Amino acid sequence: MAEDLINVVLLVNGSTHSVLIEPRVSLLDTLRDRLQLMGTKKGCDQGACGACTVLVDGERINSCLTFAVQYEDRHIQTIEGLSEDGRLHPVQRAFIEHDGFQCGYCTPGQICSAVAMLAEWRNGMPSAVSRSDGPHELQPPDLSDDELRERMSGNLCRCGAYVGIRQAIQQAAGASGR
Ligand code: FES
Ligand code: FES
Repeated sequence: MAEDLINVVLLVNGSTHSVLIEPRVSLLDTLRDRLQLMGTKKGCDQGACGACTVLVDGERINSCLTFAVQYEDRHIQTIEGLSEDGRLHPVQRAFIEHDGFQCGYCTPGQICSAVAMLAEWRNGMPSAVSRSDGPHELQPPDLSDDELRERMSGNLCRCGAYVGIRQAIQQAAGASGR
């Protein structure tokens, strides 16, 4: 039996959208099926691949694991909203320069995840790798290959374009890597 529909107001890429949906509909399905924002991809639909990563108030989430209704009054950003005034985001440009993709299916999620990850890193948030080196509250750890692999481990690429992805993110970070 169909559930009652509710009206959900979402702020996506700076625009307000009002959608009539069942409460159980995921943010991912709402973005793709109701708002026609197809840049956000559905890979596994169970939180394992990261293809559906979007930003909420600047933090990365798997949109397949969340209900749209949870994100009323929050700033949602998808890959379509990363460029500004027709200029690609530095992470987007770096992915192009370093061939950080093959089929491209994982790419929007990789890029959204990288944008939020770099903010976490710049704010000194430790990872499972950096934590073993000691406290990093005052200075971000070097964005080494190991550090980057750990921080991006939630985003899978079936094509194995990881070398280009890593180089792109390190370039965007202004880090040389190790
Ligand atoms: S589609 Fe959401 S994590 Fe795979
Ligand atoms: S580029 Fe094909 S899955 Fe990543």
